[in-house]
Amino acid sequence: VFYEHPEELDLPSNGVFGTFDEAQLQRGYQVYKEVCSACHSLKFVAFRDLAQLGYDEGQIKAEAASFQVPGIDPATGEATTRPGLATDYFPSPYPNTVAAAAANNNAIPPDLSLITKARHDGSAYVHSLLTGYSEPPAELTQQFPNFTTPPGLNYNRYFPNLNIAMAPPLALDGQVTYGEGNPEPTVDQMATDVAAFLTWTAEPTLVKRRQTGFAVLGFVLFATILAYFAKQQVWAAVK
Ligand code: HEM
Repeated sequence: VFYEHPEELDLPSNGVFGTFDEAQLQRGYQVYKEVCSACHSLKFVAFRDLAQLGYDEGQIKAEAASFQVPGIDPATGEATTRPGLATDYFPSPYPNTVAAAAANNNAIPPDLSLITKARHDGSAYVHSLLTGYSEPPAELTQQFPNFTTPPGLNYNRYFPNLNIAMAPPLALDGQVTYGEGNPEPTVDQMATDVAAFLTWTAEPTLVKRRQTGFAVLGFVLFATILAYFAKQQVWAAVK
């Protein structure tokens, strides 16, 4: 079998005590914006949600305005585009799926909002997929001499059918420039950061959910102890 399961990915949000790293989410957002958003939408994420990553109102408005979203020309009533507002959602760069497929060798770039939930081992999968491009290994071509990667597709050992329509989006170290105090933007680092960002887009309330869970468990434990002593008290007279 030449398909590989994703490699483990160490994210700060992993595990029941995990939390998001705001600086990392901002880097991941930067990668999404500068690279992935050329093809992929985030239709369940609104620009105003960026407040959770530590951006202020002015920054959010500027981010929104840097995207074109579908709109209607008030004069003619025709479909057009306009700069985004804080309340808009991250749009697809294509007007429709036909245009999306036409631009991508007949494959439609999926919306990435929930991709880390939709794929097995989602966060790790995104990282592995982005760093998993290579030539087909010699063992594969020896065992299957007829194996070829069709024109317009790319060999990727983490993609279930091995040939993916997406060309390697992160191919060069330093493709995105990170601000001072951040790690070097190697391909691996950018892939890790965008995987962290897409973990957040799929479940922004992850940390709150776990915190609530602990409070609930604490209460249940307390209630159980209380119930035990109440039972002892109520039945104390009965031998
Ligand atoms: C598919 C992530 C950039 C075009 C995908 C998939 C993911 C992904 C997770 C789904 C694979 C699956 O179905 O399991 C990303 C990320 C990007 C990025 C994180 C930025 C770092 C791009 C860019 C383009 C693109 C810039 C276009 C030039 C596509 C296409 C598919 C796809 C066409 C469908 C592939 C197929 O079904 O064969 N991408 N992508 N992606 N992406 Fe991207």
